Amino acid sequence: MEKREIGAKTFLYPMPTTLVGANVGGKPNFLTIAYCGIVNHNPPAISIALSKRHYTNPGIRENKTFSVNIPSVEMVKITDYCGLVSGKNVDKSQLFDVFTVNLKLLP
Ligand SMILES: Cc1cc2nc3c(=O)[nH]c(=O)nc-3n(C[C@H](O)[C@H](O)[C@H](O)COP(=O)(O)O)c2cc1C
Repeated sequence: MEKREIGAKTFLYPMPTTLVGANVGGKPNFLTIAYCGIVNHNPPAISIALSKRHYTNPGIRENKTFSVNIPSVEMVKITDYCGLVSGKNVDKSQLFDVFTVNLKLLP
């Protein structure tokens, strides 16, 4: 097949589908994020890109913490759900059991 010029695009597939969790207003909230990537090996760093309008964003800013979770195939429906409804309108705080980990990654 002939090579075609398509301009500057972000076509790097497959994209991982992750569930990002954060406390918002003291309650857990979850959203689906496919814009997730590796930034650095050591120290470990990954990136997520969130649209400005999401309910989760102020919670991440407030607590400076969030989780990135890899859902199993069995979790496809709930993963889709978290990406279709907003914490602005629906309480997603009870969807998953949450726990806290203290990670010391940076010196
Ligand atoms: C498969 C899938 C992937 C998504 N990936 C992203 C993404 O990478 N970045 C983003 O800002 N929103 C993404 N979304 C949209 C958010 O998950 C969605 O708007 C969510 O309802 C926002 O939740 P919140 O308002 O409770 O924070 C994705 C949705 C789906 C279904």
